[in-house]
Amino acid sequence: MKTKINGIDLYYAIHGSGEPVLFVHGFPLSGRLWEQVVEPLQDGYRLIIPDLRGLGRSEVSAEGSIGLFADDLAALIDALEERRPVVVVGLSMGGYIAFEFFRRQGGRVRALVLADTQAQAYTPEAARDREALARRVEKEGSIVAADWLIDKLFGPKASQELRDTWWQIMSSSAPVGVVAALRAMIGRADSRPTLASISVPALVVVGEHDAITPLDDAQTMHRGIVGSRLEVIPGAGHMTPVEQPDRFVRVLREFLDSLGGSGR
Ligand code: MLT
Repeated sequence: MKTKINGIDLYYAIHGSGEPVLFVHGFPLSGRLWEQVVEPLQDGYRLIIPDLRGLGRSEVSAEGSIGLFADDLAALIDALEERRPVVVVGLSMGGYIAFEFFRRQGGRVRALVLADTQAQAYTPEAARDREALARRVEKEGSIVAADWLIDKLFGPKASQELRDTWWQIMSSSAPVGVVAALRAMIGRADSRPTLASISVPALVVVGEHDAITPLDDAQTMHRGIVGSRLEVIPGAGHMTPVEQPDRFVRVLREFLDSLGGSGR
């Protein structure tokens, strides 16, 4: 389905009914990241799964900032007339957006799930690498972003089929959207000062072999958010929901079920 959000056609899928859970994908992926959580979670939860502006099946958009992505999500929830606080599940760039959503819309957040992400902004060197990548994508297309990421995304156990599927998805993303997302990530705020203010329940998830946002990053978030849970997914790299879907779903379901009703 699509709906007009902040001037663009935003694609989203809705499954199930119950307490709302908003899934935010990473860079430069799409809502397909969450395909395998739908079946096991839709019984009991209302799953809201958008493709971020400029990516996946959403309209191409040259505008991008982590704040704008977060505002799109708030507007989507409004458009869906979802008035209850939502559980926000963000992976990698989706986690950067989840932090910003929390800063802007804290009262609408029931709980946070921070998967394979980090609180800190890029080091100057990492920012320079992303900017160099953005310039190459402008000239040569999204294929260079797919090539750059593909080996970092997956753990050693991931099948060639899985790698091929995601290379295909990334390389067919609109270059304009990929560049906008890269610059959004470069310009993001350091979320470490936010950690201590997170008073909603939080789950931190990381793949054992995550090479982009490794265990250290997960531990920083876990230590900073009082009462948070940390779950390491054995055998997975950065793409936990597609590399170890059963394990990912089990920890997510357990966390969601522990929240009870929507009263805060
Ligand atoms: C992501 O998976 O969203 C990105 O790889 C995150 C990043 O490069 O910082």
